[in-house]
Amino acid sequence: MRSLFVVFALIVLVITPPMMAAQKVELTIDTSKTGAKIDRNIFGQFAEHLGHGIYEGIWVGADSKIPNTRGIRNDVVGALKAIKVPNVRWPGGCFADEYHWRKGIGPQRSVTLNPNWGGVTEANTFGAHEFMDFIDQIGAEAYISVNVGSGTPQEAAEWLEYMTAAAPTTLVKERAANGHPAPYKVGLLGIGNESWDCGGNMTPDYYVSQMKIYSRFVRNFNPAQQDKQQMLKIAVGPGGDGPRWTDWTETVMKAYQQHTWSWDINGLSMHNYTVVHWPPSYSSVGFGETEYSQILKSTLEMEGLISKHSAIMDKYDPDKKVALIVDEWGSWYAPLPGSNPGFLVQQNSLRDAILAAFNLNIFARHANRVRGANIAQMINVLQAMIMTDKEKMVLTPTYYVFKMYVPFQDATFVPVTFDAGWYTHGAVALPRLDAIAAKDANGKLWLEITNLDPNESVEIEAGLAGIAAKSASGETLTAPKVDSVNTFDAANTVMPKPISAKVQGGKLTLKLEPKSVTVVSVEQ
Ligand code: AHR
Repeated sequence: MRSLFVVFALIVLVITPPMMAAQKVELTIDTSKTGAKIDRNIFGQFAEHLGHGIYEGIWVGADSKIPNTRGIRNDVVGALKAIKVPNVRWPGGCFADEYHWRKGIGPQRSVTLNPNWGGVTEANTFGAHEFMDFIDQIGAEAYISVNVGSGTPQEAAEWLEYMTAAAPTTLVKERAANGHPAPYKVGLLGIGNESWDCGGNMTPDYYVSQMKIYSRFVRNFNPAQQDKQQMLKIAVGPGGDGPRWTDWTETVMKAYQQHTWSWDINGLSMHNYTVVHWPPSYSSVGFGETEYSQILKSTLEMEGLISKHSAIMDKYDPDKKVALIVDEWGSWYAPLPGSNPGFLVQQNSLRDAILAAFNLNIFARHANRVRGANIAQMINVLQAMIMTDKEKMVLTPTYYVFKMYVPFQDATFVPVTFDAGWYTHGAVALPRLDAIAAKDANGKLWLEITNLDPNESVEIEAGLAGIAAKSASGETLTAPKVDSVNTFDAANTVMPKPISAKVQGGKLTLKLEPKSVTVVSVEQ
């Protein structure tokens, strides 16, 4: 019996993998060396008339049984308020370059088509007034993309007059008759969308001539936006890193360098999806470590892309007056089986949470040039914050990352240095950790650390030069598997939970779980 027990114990020893000791990583945070402000607009959202992004996702109509305020669902508004959405880009995307704003105002709405996204009918019941009501309810600014592709400068100019003017013009009276006498504020104006492709397949030179005309004539007349809070005009920028895209950035920025009093731009847009290759074929559900590591490797290409286009912008705009606005980014996977492929429906997993943290950290590190970004898309489409199914709503892992990052909005960047070694899987090798730090308006220090390694935990010891730290507390987001998701039936699988962190002798220590996103604040 005894020898049998010994044999059994030996077998257990052989087949049980040795307990992995957590990796130890030292971080240095020097709070005396602060960088640029992390513009809260990098946490912007994108809401296009596409699938169930607007209809069902936001708009259910005043007669719906789903609790709503003037047709806009209350549960969605509540969730978005909690992540302090700075701005929402609307009405597209490709949809914007076929959108005619008049069809979406007044008591009689025209039913049109949405040829880009499933060829479905567009009821136009959600138009300019409904959008402005929505962003007012969530406390965000409007980022309106005007139609450069199939519209005219006059149509766009009249839209902005209708929205923003205070003087009693015929258009302003029409706005008042439609329920809004006071002028609306429009914070950002997109001059077209992907004009190199779905927005009209223009050459860079042709686009620049259009851009100048729209910049000149599409004015914001809101009296409150003349001296302060001026509307930012965003030109179409690159969609990749090849010569086609560097040529585009060169052409727009060269034109900007020679701009006169009569036109100006304040931003250059950039679009970059994490897709690996087109058409999107990676599954958003039921994947393993191989797809996890490949997608994360691909998403880190954002860093090189921003550096490349920023360097071109620096040539023509060394004072960094023109912001780089990454107004479409996020994961783009194969459509969920059974969904309309034109509706771009995908699940959102822990992998997407880590992907979101990586991209937000890249934007923060480039805060002196990247002063805006809009994840695609806010609800029910691509890398969404929120998914709805009739009266049900679920918050995604990406939503929770945006919630955890709220303290970084408008905080001042603080450099972090560390060497955490590499995580490898097959042919993929990635830095095991990513981290950013920032000081908020009250001087409180915030630290975000992502441990992308799905197998090993990491023990952090962070030196906190420049502050008398007393205590620390925070939250971590992780889940049992890299493909863990929140569903309508199991909504709390991927949710932040408190993490314990210690401060002693000017050092912060904490243990990061594998595949986790952690945000910690330090009390002084
Ligand atoms: O977000 C989906 C689409 O992706 C947008 O409409 C377009 O701008 C981009 O190609």
